[in-house]
Amino acid sequence: MWFNVRVESGDIMNVLVTGGLGFIGSHTCVELLCAGYDVVIMDNLYNAKIEVKDYIEKITGKRVRYYEDDVCDPIAVQKVFDENAIDAVIHFAGYKAVGESVSKPLKYYKNNLISTLVLCEEMKRRGCRNFVFSSSATVYGDPQRIPIDEECRLGPTTNPYGSTKLFIEQILKDLHTSDPDWNIALLRYFNPIGAHESGLIGEEPSGIPNNLMPYIVKVANRELPFLHVFGDDYDTHDGTGVRDYIHVVDLAKGHVCALHKLEHTHVGVGAYNLGTGNGYSVLDIVKAFEKTNQIEIPYQIDPRRPGDIAVCYADPDKAYQELGFKAEKTLEDMVRDSWNFLQKKN
Ligand code: UD1
Repeated sequence: MWFNVRVESGDIMNVLVTGGLGFIGSHTCVELLCAGYDVVIMDNLYNAKIEVKDYIEKITGKRVRYYEDDVCDPIAVQKVFDENAIDAVIHFAGYKAVGESVSKPLKYYKNNLISTLVLCEEMKRRGCRNFVFSSSATVYGDPQRIPIDEECRLGPTTNPYGSTKLFIEQILKDLHTSDPDWNIALLRYFNPIGAHESGLIGEEPSGIPNNLMPYIVKVANRELPFLHVFGDDYDTHDGTGVRDYIHVVDLAKGHVCALHKLEHTHVGVGAYNLGTGNGYSVLDIVKAFEKTNQIEIPYQIDPRRPGDIAVCYADPDKAYQELGFKAEKTLEDMVRDSWNFLQKKN
């Protein structure tokens, strides 16, 4: 007989995942279900497809409860809490396009801040205090030092999207100051790429992608003629920008580690970098993609993209020491799985 083993009674059982059908959210739902949690998803399908719910269930062989609702809607959030005994919330829902946030700042502040406030108010009312927030390395702005540790100075951020992440972190810190029972993990992601190895879920940006890996896969698929490499005159080993790319499945597992931590320790507010600690340049990624997938990626060197920094990679030690999290997948896994997802989708 198969038991869904839980370590202690009073543990976290039901996890509300907002934005659970998105890129990182869907992979996290898979890992939560595999770890034995029950998952309730709220997603308004702004940047996700309903089929993803079926894929999550197909991969895990488990069911999820799903609400097609906006987290900014207090009535909808209340209903979810009325109908489910939510023990913890992982909050992914939010707008995330850096360029759009510059042209439409109000849209970003309104959506990202209000959804978080609505959620926290409802949690406060219900006495649910376990919260995992989907933050970003963007909160470090132009980083004070490399590798970036959690003690590095925060901000100034370089765009409104980044500011929403920084402001929400501050709101959560203030909330904890007002009521120390809150137990909050701020997860600062570096650059998530890759996809689930099944090829069923992955990243599907609409229109022309802004981020590197989605752009590369479209070039590989001959939907776009060539990659624009934004600058080759940075102070890096080949002149192109260096980032800490992390496989989205590793990143998703980081959320399970964070939830375990909240379950067994009162952390108050803890910030954790989720990265690998390795920095790869744009051309390193292009070469790894070409070698692993045996496809040529034509590219052209263009001017630097405004707002980009030269180098950004994590010191992942705190997440390892305190959450027991360590990214395991290789760059080869990342480029193979990104390509596999696009091929399976077609
Ligand atoms: C950005 C966001 C980050 C967010 C991440 C999502 C900022 C400052 N950065 O990171 O918060 O979490 O997206 O993954 O808010 N590049 C090209 N050609 C392209 C696209 C990118 O050369 O077509 C280069 C960039 O110059 C950069 C690297 O590839 O050096 C990675 O860029 P990108 O994937 O857009 O991520 P970031 O800007 O690092």
